[in-house]
Amino acid sequence: MIYFNEEKRDIHIRTSNSSYIMRILEEGHVASLYFGEKLKNKSHFSSLYKRYEVARGVSYTWKSNYSMIGELYEFSYCDKGDYRESSIDLIYSDGSITCDFRYLSHRINDNNLVIVLRDPLTELIVKLHYTVDGEKIIRYTELENRGEEVYINHLVWATFDTSILPLRLNNVPLNQGIRIVDADEGLISLENDDLIYRFQSESEGDVTGKFEKSPLNLIRANFGEDCNFVLAEGALHSTGKVALSYVNKNRKTSISGKPSIEVLDDIFYLRTNRLSYCFDTRLNHLYFGDTADEKLDFSGKMKEFTTDRILQFEGIENLNFEYQNYKLSDVKEELKTLPSSHGSDQCLYLFFSDKTNHIDLVLTYGLFYESDCFTRSMKIINRTREERILTRALSFTVPFADTDFNMMSLDGDWISERHINKRKLSGGRTYIDSKKGSSSNSHNPFIALTKDDTTEFKGTGIGFSLIYSGNHIMEADVDSHLTVSGGINPHFFAYHIQDEFETPEAVFTYSSEGLNRMSQNFHCFVNNNIVPGQFREKERPVLINSWEATYFDFNERKLLNMASKAGKMGIELFVLDDGWFGKRDDDTSSLGDFSIYRKKLKHGLNGLCRKINKMGLDFGLWVEPEMISIDSRLYEEHPEYLLKHPQREMSFGRNQGILDFSNPEVVDYVYGELEKVFSSCNLKYVKWDMNRNFSDTYSGYLKDQRECTHKYMLGVYELFKRIMKRFPHILFEGCAAGGDRFDMGILCYFPQIWTSDCTDATERTYIQYGTSMVYPQSVICAQVSSDVNHQLLRQNPIESRFNVASFASLGFSLNLKDVSAFNMSIIRNQITFYKEHRKLLQFGKLTRMESPYDSNHYAMIVSNSDSSKNIYINFQELVKSSRSLEIFKLKGLNEKYDYTVETRQQIENVKVVGELLNHVLPFRIRQNGVIHNIISRFYKYKTECENIIASGAELNCFGFLPKHQFAGSDINENVRLTTDFSSRLYLINKV
Ligand code: GLA
Repeated sequence: MIYFNEEKRDIHIRTSNSSYIMRILEEGHVASLYFGEKLKNKSHFSSLYKRYEVARGVSYTWKSNYSMIGELYEFSYCDKGDYRESSIDLIYSDGSITCDFRYLSHRINDNNLVIVLRDPLTELIVKLHYTVDGEKIIRYTELENRGEEVYINHLVWATFDTSILPLRLNNVPLNQGIRIVDADEGLISLENDDLIYRFQSESEGDVTGKFEKSPLNLIRANFGEDCNFVLAEGALHSTGKVALSYVNKNRKTSISGKPSIEVLDDIFYLRTNRLSYCFDTRLNHLYFGDTADEKLDFSGKMKEFTTDRILQFEGIENLNFEYQNYKLSDVKEELKTLPSSHGSDQCLYLFFSDKTNHIDLVLTYGLFYESDCFTRSMKIINRTREERILTRALSFTVPFADTDFNMMSLDGDWISERHINKRKLSGGRTYIDSKKGSSSNSHNPFIALTKDDTTEFKGTGIGFSLIYSGNHIMEADVDSHLTVSGGINPHFFAYHIQDEFETPEAVFTYSSEGLNRMSQNFHCFVNNNIVPGQFREKERPVLINSWEATYFDFNERKLLNMASKAGKMGIELFVLDDGWFGKRDDDTSSLGDFSIYRKKLKHGLNGLCRKINKMGLDFGLWVEPEMISIDSRLYEEHPEYLLKHPQREMSFGRNQGILDFSNPEVVDYVYGELEKVFSSCNLKYVKWDMNRNFSDTYSGYLKDQRECTHKYMLGVYELFKRIMKRFPHILFEGCAAGGDRFDMGILCYFPQIWTSDCTDATERTYIQYGTSMVYPQSVICAQVSSDVNHQLLRQNPIESRFNVASFASLGFSLNLKDVSAFNMSIIRNQITFYKEHRKLLQFGKLTRMESPYDSNHYAMIVSNSDSSKNIYINFQELVKSSRSLEIFKLKGLNEKYDYTVETRQQIENVKVVGELLNHVLPFRIRQNGVIHNIISRFYKYKTECENIIASGAELNCFGFLPKHQFAGSDINENVRLTTDFSSRLYLINKV
């Protein structure tokens, strides 16, 4: 049965055992509200009707009611701020894309329903057909074109009669444990422990849209946050082949085991201190793992690529690359167009050629002995005079014979970036990607393979990361074996190659000693081989940032007051955030203009900077150079600099648009403006922000719009490079609505990144724990903010706000004017402590001890090179009663040494014990009364101090017993007074 609810504009399809509900939204998009067990009465629907149009952070406005986080759309439209896979992508002859189909009408006829949608700009009609047949809903799509020529984006959608259902399966956590159990002739079953969903092709005869078992990559299951999945890509892509071959099991080759590259019997042995990576001239992968376990009696070898997995060109179907030769070098050349690692110990170039199509490939492998990392990138060379159109160019694939792995990724959102997400791999493709134009807070360009028993200290952890800041994909594909691949997202991507094209560099590392070792390898690599050389191991200043203190409401006097207080506290750098240019009083205007807002800064940047310098502080500035406001001088003069489709309505993010960095004229313009601003005063630091994602991917400068996002990145990198060259002494901090572009590409230019707009210490334990999987403390920026947190309204103790931020590059973001004298003196001590231990905190080797994701604690230790100096943090999320004996476990200490374990002296406000104070005072006071308030303002309760002496072996094996927590007990120096969100730092030094 099918019926339409006029009032809600819902369509209900009911089979004999299920309900499927769609809604026609106000602007005409069709949302999928529900699919699952049959809903019997109206009360079942009530919660479905609560659409959550929460505008969180960078929300997108398109018409009045569009928000980035909303419904599951029948056709999600990534072109309008929705970054899920769209079920139909159509490309017009100029390369622009649309997924924007709006409701025209519908027709219900017994058990048949047709919904008619139209692209508002063209004559293209989409008809969604649904038929109820017993328990089944049969669905197909029909396209009708009465207007200009249009192409179906063959990457996503290839036939007219394939059915694609974006479903919100009822109460099923699709990202956990769902398996494709069968993909036979037209039938696919998805199954987890509780249920089975079956999809069967109803098409008869020789129809290209059939689901097929082999090759499996015709079937794509995307179990991402939206529970969207696409079941068929269309059979036009039937070329992806599984490649598996075997070699003689008895083959033996002598190996030396020294870090180096060796070439023997056409096999390349790449060895770092602890890792080996071996493959042959046909890119058969022979080994990747610990040097100690390297055995060359391989039972099988895995072929790295069937070329179409990694490379595709428009109109070329028979790519066939043959190995030519290799070259060894001590120096790895830098990529010309993209950021890349530096300081490799050795480098291997492999040359391949496709003589029929006149295309050459150069694969470059970098070896980093100390960090145990390998890099790999690919150069594609067009040897013809004709242009070649590249539509897929991944950076790497690594095959594994073993398929029994979990995939870890760092997923999130605004103010909850890089949370750890793990899922079991099973048959089919599992991937994370970004279509947002930035590397994104949704999925960091990193994945790790782990085993079920991998922990922080034990087991396998294989990490892959990408040195790229734009649209990426990282994928694990399981069929007879596992192939991990990654690179630029092929979604809506093309590149017209005249001569050469470079793919981003990928980095991979392997650990058999758990995730800590994997992260330590990445940390060493980022510190030594990614951040610009002049900032290597350079201690980062303690800064104060004006944003949360004043937002847009400041003038020179207010800023100077803040700076003067900051200077007295020991802060070293004052950063003026948003609002200093054009006529920017809120986020609706002036991006693109770089003139000083004289109403606020009557003596200009130079006047302000000089006064701040006189107070003994350095001066830093916020800019957002990749953006443009409609209300700006730049837009008046150069509307063509805005990325926008000439006819389509534009969608805004944070009221702003994006500048067209694919156009070199824009790069020149912005360079010129920044050059003037940055040389106008004694600037020591710049925070470079980028506050919205792509939604109107259209450049008036480009002919083929599929080039837009990558060429944008190339333009941005070009600008970074020029600016860095001109101002090598300036410390740049990357930022993108917090941590929306936190990747190794950015870090090649900017030595640190604003991690998240969330400054809440408790949420930060999750964000920083996740971020530390790949990135070291020196590049992670963290700030102490005000008492009631501005993002989550939580109150974390002042000492915890500092303790959590101290395992990073430290800053403050609060109005010192409003900070009590009591807290000011605490902050002063904190800064002194941080500066004293800064080298260790920023560059020490980090070992994660307890995860907030799995426990009530967040605990880590940083150690210097011989572990003679260490600092340990233990943060407790909630106080729990009836605790058993607490042991703070430690690792990484030198077993030859004895150590002292001492608490950093912390101060507590006596108010936390409330009226219990009466039990220690000789007189009685009233809680929150005048006397209580006076005592709390002036009396600084020093928390307990540990003073333990123990051997390194004991600490590594057992840890230490801290003083017991308050639990209805006395309050004295032997009791650890703890509240929710409280924490301690412990100094663990060699005796
Ligand atoms: C973004 C940044 C913030 C702040 C504001 C200013 O949201 O992440 O730190 O700079 O922009 O508009």
